[in-house]
Amino acid sequence: MDIKVLQKKIRQLLKERNAILLVHNYQRPEIQDIADLTGDSLGLSIEAAKTQAEIIVFCGVHFMAETASILCPDKVVLLPVISAGCPMADMITAQSLAKKKKELPGVPVVSYVNSSASVKAESDICCTSANAIQVVNSLAPYDTILMTPDKNLAQYAQRYTDKRIVYWEGFCPYHDILTAEQVRKVKQEHPQALFLAHPECRPGVIDLADEVKSTSGMLDYARKAKNREYIIGTETGIIHTLKTQNPDKVFIPADENMICIDMKKTQLPDIVNALVNLSPVIKVAEDIRVQAKGAVERMLLVPRD
Ligand code: 13P
Ligand code: SF4
Repeated sequence: MDIKVLQKKIRQLLKERNAILLVHNYQRPEIQDIADLTGDSLGLSIEAAKTQAEIIVFCGVHFMAETASILCPDKVVLLPVISAGCPMADMITAQSLAKKKKELPGVPVVSYVNSSASVKAESDICCTSANAIQVVNSLAPYDTILMTPDKNLAQYAQRYTDKRIVYWEGFCPYHDILTAEQVRKVKQEHPQALFLAHPECRPGVIDLADEVKSTSGMLDYARKAKNREYIIGTETGIIHTLKTQNPDKVFIPADENMICIDMKKTQLPDIVNALVNLSPVIKVAEDIRVQAKGAVERMLLVPRD
């Protein structure tokens, strides 16, 4: 079926089913274009928490749909491709975290939302790339914190806190391939460009950034800033929206290989099937959900700058 026909069919099914389509900024362009909301992990969680729709179709990866299920147990949460996961989230389990906690008694755990519901259930508070610094600094009485699973996000947050951050050794395989050497090369080719980096990038890459932002933070920044050219240090899916929202500006991927395979698994026919069959459903077991909800809700209460 042709793209336009599929897009129209999806919008029609969404209406018939009283469903909302939440789409992460890394998804395929043809999916972003028909979203009710595109956003970063934080923005999509906030929207999931307040939507009136009965069904949430989450075009992203497994942990994002789980977060929606944690926040909205009465809604049906659909993840059109069940195998769309996050390799970084898979680098930690609830069991391995429980073991680490025993080695660090009294140390609170901050888990990046890129983690399973059972890891969130073992955590004190969650954070996203948009609020990691605020979340860490909100833990006022503690001078040591355990951050999981992203070592790069943790090392980025360490720059902005006096607390000692002990970190898990996880990483995003697509952000972690970007090297400082590659950034220097692209900067040399585009000397007028500002370099925007995602905090999942390595410390040496962060050192070279003009701005460090979540995906939605990058979109906001590019809309408001006067500069014409930008080097983008995150998954390349965001470049579609950057270009659509800023037709007069130029966006250059820092590394064209920064493509998250899982984020690209979902295609338009998968969304049609999900809406027709009301499947695959993501539902977090109630005991885990209640514990994980505490960590997610505590994060949502942290004031943003
Ligand atoms: P944000 O969109 O929250 O910045 O996160 C990036 C990411 O890797 C999501 O998987
Ligand atoms: Fe996970 Fe990285 Fe893909 Fe985000 S881009 S879903 S962190 S593997």
